[in-house]
Amino acid sequence: MTVNKTVDPESLKLFAKQTATLVENAMHQDLDQALIATDPLLRETLEHSLFNGGKRIRPLLVILSSRICGKTDNSSHLLAAAFEYLHVATLIHDDVIDGAKERRGVPSLVQSHGLAAAILTGDWLHARSMQLIGKIAGNRALEVFCHATTGMVDGEYLQIRHTGNPNTSEQQYFSVIARKTGGLIASACEIAGIFANASDEQIKALVAYGTNLGIAFQIVDDLLDYLGDQKSTGKKIGQDLVEGKMTLPLIRALANANTDEITLFKTLFSNPDQRAENLSLIKEIILKNDGFNSARATAEESIENAINALSLFTDQNENTSYAMLKGLALYVISRDK
Ligand code: IPE
Ligand code: IPE
Ligand code: MG
Ligand code: MG
Repeated sequence: MTVNKTVDPESLKLFAKQTATLVENAMHQDLDQALIATDPLLRETLEHSLFNGGKRIRPLLVILSSRICGKTDNSSHLLAAAFEYLHVATLIHDDVIDGAKERRGVPSLVQSHGLAAAILTGDWLHARSMQLIGKIAGNRALEVFCHATTGMVDGEYLQIRHTGNPNTSEQQYFSVIARKTGGLIASACEIAGIFANASDEQIKALVAYGTNLGIAFQIVDDLLDYLGDQKSTGKKIGQDLVEGKMTLPLIRALANANTDEITLFKTLFSNPDQRAENLSLIKEIILKNDGFNSARATAEESIENAINALSLFTDQNENTSYAMLKGLALYVISRDK
């Protein structure tokens, strides 16, 4: 028996690539159907946002979560596409909120096409996503979708409330990321389970997997915002600090820092216009106080919890999907993009 087996990274990469191609085909077909009598600018902005890279992790989660519950239906690729639509809608609007100029290695939509295009394209993707999820996975799925989306709005609001506050607590940080990222990723797994007619127990496991994966995903995103390479992430490094976001590496470092370092940080952080030039000094404070390692260790714990949540699937005869979901979780903490 191959219980607890982890897929080798190359096989996962190949499967992810094949899935991404199928999902992209589903998106192209869907856009061809949906954009018959619409303004050509909408097609342009959608193509700019949807087909300029992206790791396609949420669609992959939908495919694997439905497969692990025994469903391998053709319509699963369109359901997966709907989650990429939702994700991209949130990214487009997130870049407006965050004032981010770069996304997926190209100018963010608000930067390239302006505010009206960003609002409208995000709205369109959101609406289309709901329409597809309702049609393919039914009302219960739509309910989950709406709950996750309203939760994401709540998370973004909460984040705005804490922006620029150097005393933001760890608990406040986790409330933000559980809502803005964990909830959406969990909903992709949960809806895939609903679509697959999974048992309540299986769905509960998928929600726990998705929530923990989503939390780890956001911690790693926040680490990459300091330590990543713009060429890989496709986003500007140091953006969180410039925006005044207190993310986990910083919160953990301040918990360890001495009074002088805390005072220095607060001075460097207090003027939004000078945060960019203070990035390397603040990075030093984080490094010296173990903020990066400590945040990474927490992401690793969350990944372990995600994998453990899937234990009820390990005694199945066919456990390729289990191995892939486990491999995907391990990829999330090792990724550099
Ligand atoms: C970025 O998500 C937004 C977060 C929730 C951190 P991804 O890192 O999955 O972005 P793409 O889809 O690969 O561009
Ligand atoms: C975004 O979080 C989460 C969403 C709701 C889209 P971030 O603001 O950290 O994501 P990036 O770094 O812009 O991709
Ligand atoms: Mg952002
Ligand atoms: Mg980020």
